[in-house]
Amino acid sequence: MTVTVSGPNPGAPAVDVSGADDVLGGVSRTLLIPLYARAHAARLLPELPFDDPAARALTERLGLDARTVGRDRFTMRLCIARSVVLERELRTLLAGATQPRTVVVLACGLDTLPQRVGTDRARWLCADLPAVTELRERLLPPASGIAHMTAALPDGLRDLSGHLGADRPIFMLEGILPYLERAQVVATLRGIAALAPAGADVLVDGYHPALLAFARFGDGFRRMRVRFRFAIANTRNYVELAPRLRYVAETDLLRLLPWRRRMRTALPALAAAGRPLATIAHLALAPV
Ligand SMILES: C[S@@+](CC[C@H](N)C(=O)[O-])C[C@H]1O[C@@H](n2cnc3c(N)ncnc32)[C@H](O)[C@@H]1O
Repeated sequence: MTVTVSGPNPGAPAVDVSGADDVLGGVSRTLLIPLYARAHAARLLPELPFDDPAARALTERLGLDARTVGRDRFTMRLCIARSVVLERELRTLLAGATQPRTVVVLACGLDTLPQRVGTDRARWLCADLPAVTELRERLLPPASGIAHMTAALPDGLRDLSGHLGADRPIFMLEGILPYLERAQVVATLRGIAALAPAGADVLVDGYHPALLAFARFGDGFRRMRVRFRFAIANTRNYVELAPRLRYVAETDLLRLLPWRRRMRTALPALAAAGRPLATIAHLALAPV
């Protein structure tokens, strides 16, 4: 990965991201996969309308290529599909609100969702581990309506209280739960339930155990030496993990991919016996 990159504007001082490789150790390094996928969505998944100029600019600045992120196109396409669905669901929630809502993007990595959706209807709070937050500050500097915070899940959720505004927040969890132990997932959902008022929404991606059993052989994940720990066979079961969580809906992500783009899911699909292999679940917080 290139370590020194040009500033955002021609003539602006170079942004030094030296050490980015060290910063992105362990699970944090996996943030490069969805970033690369979003940047290359037009080539990887032309069937879906998705455009992310901010991700493209970032990957260029970082000199990101397949040597770093691997060549696992199925995983990248799944990342694009989940971004499409999360963005669509979020826009629907924001459109139904009478005033801007706080959107808390947990484990945000270098997600460019705030740049895609904008700040007219949302007030953004993007949180990740300290080293990633520091990198994000340099590469996607906070702007009016977009704030950054450090919050290591699950315990760091407490630090968010007082930053959620008066209205019902929306929590986004994308590409993080599979890397957490089950106890950490439970603590994360309970932490959100403890923080959030009635009517708050949670959007979260989830993967069936049968899919993750195969996914760990993916090129990118093998290179990054990460392990999947949490899978969910039925998204209705999220509500058993924390009080006040209510199931609203799920979207089957693989339905967005043409069959030729997901042939490798044939075997996991058999094992899953009809349950979706990859989902976005919409949960909500019931009154206390
Ligand atoms: C696969 S990346 C997903 C990033 C982003 N959500 C996206 O879709 O582009 C996983 C992210 O989880 C973050 N992460 C890992 N463990 C975490 C923890 N305990 N608390 C908060 N963030 C964590 C990593 O730093 C990384 O940014």
